[in-house]
Amino acid sequence: EPQKVLIRDSWQIVSQDQIHHGTVLFTRLFELEPDLVFLFQYNSAHFSTVQECLGSSEFTEHIRKVMTVIDAAVSSVDSLSSLDEYLTGLGRKHRATGVKLESFKTVGESLIFALESGLGELFTPETREAWSQLYGVVVGAMSRGWYR
Ligand code: HEM
Repeated sequence: EPQKVLIRDSWQIVSQDQIHHGTVLFTRLFELEPDLVFLFQYNSAHFSTVQECLGSSEFTEHIRKVMTVIDAAVSSVDSLSSLDEYLTGLGRKHRATGVKLESFKTVGESLIFALESGLGELFTPETREAWSQLYGVVVGAMSRGWYR
């Protein structure tokens, strides 16, 4: 189980501006894997550039959705298995969007990047480790959606 206090205290800071930190996360993700931008299609059109994607209201809603899932994981850090079914279903939906499971490793790196940018020196090695563990549990549950 990840260190709850470190998770809760750090999330309390970052969650005050979820869209900002979520935008830092996805900006980093698209730097590392630019082709992921093409998976976001609304009204069956994809974005031509990362800037266009990041500036769209639909994509901002996706950021809000991602941050809501993280918020739920933080709230349930004592009992993450209660999110299992939801997260497996979420994984299945993501497989259907064409995203590869491997890309979720880059998502994890981008999450750590965003937390570090938001927390500065408060992002201690222990806090980083706690978040890596929490993210590992979330992606572990999502990954079951790829295989069933
Ligand atoms: C929905 C792509 C990462 C949470 C979607 C949709 C797409 C998508 C195309 C459908 C359109 C939409 O609702 O905006 C991706 C890609 C990702 C990614 C390419 C990274 C490579 C994540 C992560 C989370 C997440 C890390 C949370 C942990 C959600 C949620 C929905 C969603 C909650 C709505 C599902 C529903 O309709 O029930 N995602 N996503 N996504 N995504 Fe992601």
